[in-house]
Amino acid sequence: MRNKVIFYLNGKRHEVGAEQASMMLGDYLRYEKNLTGTKIVCAEGDCGACSVLRYFPHAKGTDDNNYLPINSCITVVANLDGSSLVTVDALKDENELHVAQKAMIKCHGSQCGFCTPGFVVALTGLVEEKIAKKETTLNVVEAKNCMTGNLCRCTGYQPIIDAALTMDLKKAQSVKERFFSPEQKEVLEEKFQTGIAIETEDFSYSAPKTIQEALNYLAANPDTRIVGASTDLGVVHNKRKITLTKLLSLHLIQDLYDIQLKNNVVTLGARVTMTEFRHFMKDKCPEVSNYLDIFASPQIKNLATVVGNVANASPIGDTPPALLALNASVIVNGNKEILLSDFFIGYRKTALQTGELITGIKFHLPKAGADFKLYKNSNRKDLDISAVNLGIQIEWNDHLKTSIKNIYIAAGGVAETPVRFKRTEDSLKTTLDLDAAVKILHTEFKPVSDVRASGAYRHILIENFLRRFFAECGGNK
Ligand SMILES: Cc1cc2nc3c(=O)[nH]c(=O)nc-3n(C[C@H](O)[C@H](O)[C@H](O)COP(=O)(O)OP(=O)(O)OC[C@H]3O[C@@H](n4cnc5c(N)ncnc54)[C@H](O)[C@@H]3O)c2cc1C
Ligand code: FES
Ligand code: FES
Repeated sequence: MRNKVIFYLNGKRHEVGAEQASMMLGDYLRYEKNLTGTKIVCAEGDCGACSVLRYFPHAKGTDDNNYLPINSCITVVANLDGSSLVTVDALKDENELHVAQKAMIKCHGSQCGFCTPGFVVALTGLVEEKIAKKETTLNVVEAKNCMTGNLCRCTGYQPIIDAALTMDLKKAQSVKERFFSPEQKEVLEEKFQTGIAIETEDFSYSAPKTIQEALNYLAANPDTRIVGASTDLGVVHNKRKITLTKLLSLHLIQDLYDIQLKNNVVTLGARVTMTEFRHFMKDKCPEVSNYLDIFASPQIKNLATVVGNVANASPIGDTPPALLALNASVIVNGNKEILLSDFFIGYRKTALQTGELITGIKFHLPKAGADFKLYKNSNRKDLDISAVNLGIQIEWNDHLKTSIKNIYIAAGGVAETPVRFKRTEDSLKTTLDLDAAVKILHTEFKPVSDVRASGAYRHILIENFLRRFFAECGGNK
């Protein structure tokens, strides 16, 4: 066992114990390392000022693994074990600014400067992606998409978009080539073979090598919190509603990084990130990857786990309705399955027992001829929590879509848990009469009114999504 967390920062090896491992990365960079280029503004993952680049060589499930932007304000240092990090402070190479920095200056993309380092990091992430793909041009959609996790309060976005489009990709130097050496890879891989046990009065952090060891640890330490990427937990911690002092991480259990498709069944491990999931689903079920385009921001997706989104059991989480419509199951302790429709049992309560953990998620891809759609409504398109979301899958009895074999309709933002509309499903299965089904639909939920939407508006949205599904897919008689 080791009692230190290891990572590389701007090319230099760091091994840190309890005191520093328990900090948020943004604070560690600024107060311990004097790397003050990284700014902390919102401290809740929303503005991107704290963005840094992270390369995680152990990730699977993606063939374009690279330095990706993440939010340092909500990421516990311990969770970066095994990573290679690069901050904005290191982007300038001797006297030569990075092409993203040069372009920001040229296009007057900075005014007060608080947001600027985050934008530069987001743009550098895009440059890395382009270098990896050997592409030397980028378009305005790519420019805007790479910045959906960054807010600027004073310059306005146009000069920053202009900067993105002005970056000289032919002259861009690869961060990966500059900062990730074969020696680094060897050290990180070797250290990844050993579990972590940090035990002090103020902070305990355990990262075992197997599921059984994790279960043993949980049994002996029932007050320990399982941590994924802390994109939920980090926000709650920063708002001082919880403290992250006793953590169990599954990041050293290598099988949990797997995502695979076998016999039309997708199985993904607890360490698979949203970015990896989105990437994996792109050619297998574009409906899922398109839906994940508007999940949070690139910075959040690059860290957040799919399992964390399900375990968090938020009534407005985005993956639960999608996975419910795919009739997914949660894999518990590596050996037991719970249907997702039986998993959410109350407000932020799941069927998970004390001492249990989620090791993965499993679902069938929609069969040929089935219709599957996902809808999300939020006040802003990007980086916003859903007001409501809806997933629908219908397997038809015949290609003319005159009767239904199986139907799954699930929504978020309408009750204290994500829900299946089972009576509406039954009604449509019995008679394909949409108006009759809509009447039943409205009796199946009583949404609250809050800052995101009124209850009445939520009713309208859910009805309209259902009607839209049939308008898009046909099948209504
Ligand atoms: C700015 C911002 C934007 C966001 N946007 C969206 C959005 O658009 N849509 C959306 O749905 N969510 C959004 N989120 C929420 C969050 O990013 C997701 O819920 C994310 O998937 C959580 O994953 P994580 O790995 O970070 O989980 P963590 O924060 O580490 O954990 C979340 C919960 O899951 C539990 N947990 C984690 N792993 C396991 C496990 N293996 N077994 C049992 N329990 C476990 C933890 O104990 C904790 O209770 C956003 C968050 C932020 C900060
Ligand atoms: S400080 Fe705003 S996202 Fe981190
Ligand atoms: S330049 Fe001031 S917030 Fe963007």
